[in-house]
Amino acid sequence: MDNKKIAITGGTTGIGFACAEYLLKAGYNIIITGRTKVNLDSAVSKLGKNAFGILSDTSSLSDIDQLVSKIKNEFGKIDGLFVNAGIFKAMNFEGTTEDLFDETMNINFKGAFFTVQKFIPILKNPSSVVLNTSIVIFKAFADTSVYTASKAALESIAKVLNIELADKGIRVNVVSPGITQSPIQKKSGMNDEAIDNLLKHFSTTSPIGRIVQPTDIAPIVEFLLSDKSQVLRNEKIIVDGGTTM
Ligand SMILES: NC(=O)c1ccc[n+]([C@@H]2O[C@H](COP(=O)([O-])OP(=O)(O)OC[C@H]3O[C@@H](n4cnc5c(N)ncnc54)[C@H](OP(=O)(O)O)[C@@H]3O)[C@@H](O)[C@H]2O)c1
Repeated sequence: MDNKKIAITGGTTGIGFACAEYLLKAGYNIIITGRTKVNLDSAVSKLGKNAFGILSDTSSLSDIDQLVSKIKNEFGKIDGLFVNAGIFKAMNFEGTTEDLFDETMNINFKGAFFTVQKFIPILKNPSSVVLNTSIVIFKAFADTSVYTASKAALESIAKVLNIELADKGIRVNVVSPGITQSPIQKKSGMNDEAIDNLLKHFSTTSPIGRIVQPTDIAPIVEFLLSDKSQVLRNEKIIVDGGTTM
């Protein structure tokens, strides 16, 4: 039987990359995307055989069209999609500019929304879509207002898509990671001391006594993409070591 094929948006670093590694080891073929060529090339070469990279900015609808057409030409229909590409830039509510609002919503929500829409023709019946949101939906964190809104918006569409796409055999579930150590913290604009404090706080207050790693998220995503979860719809799995209990 052919290997199952999964596309991961933003699979070059952090959670997306860990999921790509895990899925490859489990026997899947993987297509990862990213918008930075050097990161994409490095990720594909680390992942090795059965991993394919396509440069694609998720905030650009024409990039998503090209991504879908490349996947269709190269692989035909695929078995699953992990909608993972996302950004976080720390900013308080009063300091949030229109540019930051648009950038965050365009990548985390609009891009994710149209990614799922444009992938429909290349998703098999049955297939699985997993949306990456965040625990910020359940617990308030300062300096995350627009990020929180983008993730809450993304989570909100899962139930609607499960109704509308059911007859195409497409099911949609959600993974909500807790604070996970990844390059996102450095890119957020936080300084090294603030990042250290954040990671230390979540290591010491978490019931698991350490910070969540991208490799902790990967098996949960594989479960949601696989037939093991075939009757789940609009399920939200919080992967945070218990910090939001
Ligand atoms: N780390 C956490 O604490 C945490 C917690 C909850 C949820 N999440 C979510 O998990 C997802 C992955 O985050 P991460 O922590 O793994 O961070 P990360 O290491 O920064 O990974 C982000 C990935 O998304 C890609 N990306 C960003 N903007 C893109 C765009 N416009 N088009 C295409 N790809 C884009 C990045 O590629 P480039 O290198 O090319 O930019 C990278 O591959 C995000 O949606 C994030 O919100 C993270």
